[in-house]
Amino acid sequence: MAKAFKDKVLEGKVAFVAGASSGINLGIAQHFAAHGAKVAVISRSHEKITAAAKTMTDAGHDAIGLAADVRDFESVDKALAETQKQFGNIDIVISGAAGNFVAPALGMSSNGFKTVVDIDLIGTFNVLRASFQYLNRPGASLISITAPQAVNPSVFQAHVCAAKAGINMLTKCLAMEWGPAGVRVNAISPGPIADTEGMARLAPTPEMEKGIKSRIAMRDYGTKTDIADMALFLSSENASYVTGTIVDCDGGSKLGDAGADALGEFK
Ligand code: HXC
Ligand code: NAP
Repeated sequence: MAKAFKDKVLEGKVAFVAGASSGINLGIAQHFAAHGAKVAVISRSHEKITAAAKTMTDAGHDAIGLAADVRDFESVDKALAETQKQFGNIDIVISGAAGNFVAPALGMSSNGFKTVVDIDLIGTFNVLRASFQYLNRPGASLISITAPQAVNPSVFQAHVCAAKAGINMLTKCLAMEWGPAGVRVNAISPGPIADTEGMARLAPTPEMEKGIKSRIAMRDYGTKTDIADMALFLSSENASYVTGTIVDCDGGSKLGDAGADALGEFK
């Protein structure tokens, strides 16, 4: 039977979104809330995550904000337990907490490298691993937020490239282990997204932004809504046979510029 895509497609669902005090992950949380889910958001900062949750409760949705550091398994576990206590078993988990700075490997201390790997990769393991016992199974959907750097090596991003590559492989391993329990595990790989901390750090000047856009097939940055829509689809029953997949949502940026510099624009 065909599966229709309902307006309030997440009605009755509970979502837990890690790293959602700002940016792409907050956009996902708000989109889920608007589509009927009860949403718990976590980040390190009590003040920022309380404000993030308030954007949703002010709009009339059910949401809670909890301070937790994804590097600390116990604090993540505590936040999940509180979410289950307030909203019930969890249907959807987003692991999107991340850290980044631009530096050559020789300008990075061991602790600098470790800090990003700890937040991105160990943090994702902690969030997904800790969530398992709180999930509504079968039917749960777990999504990590990775990046093109997982497969495209980049200068000054050794820490992010290594961490996100680990997330891609973790996604596939957990999909294999948890598929029999009816738990789907996927990742979204956003391209450059407008108005985010990530791009503010990677392309801080208009010239750099222009250069990046000229090498994207769609010739523009994506929006937070582009990623939130993909997360909504992957979390819905419409995606019930999708697992172990890294979904590129990047305007074709991973394709390369296909010789556009040499051939010019096709008008
Ligand atoms: C070299 C640096 C550095 C820099 C920090 N470090 N910034 N090294 N160049 N610019 C080093 C520090 O010297 C220290 O090492 C170690 O990193 C830890 O620094 P802390 O400040 O103590 O860490 P912490 O407070 O945990 O903060 C983590 C952080 C910070 C990653 C450094 O920037 C942060 O909180 N970021 C969260 C927000 C964020 O980054 N958003 C963007 C996500 S976008 P030593 O040896 O001195 O102790 C993203 C991009 C993906 O992920 C791709 C996009 C296209
Ligand atoms: P962002 O706004 O800085 O989001 C990162 C979030 O992670 C913040 O809410 C931060 O909140 C939280 N965080 C950081 N360390 C944490 C920790 N140890 N424990 C818990 N939470 C922590 O950045 P963004 O640009 O929107 O990026 C969001 C995600 O998309 C990341 O996974 C990033 O790698 C990915 N991505 C972004 C782009 C892009 O174009 N921006 C492209 C590809 C992939 P606190 O500071 O309050 O803790």
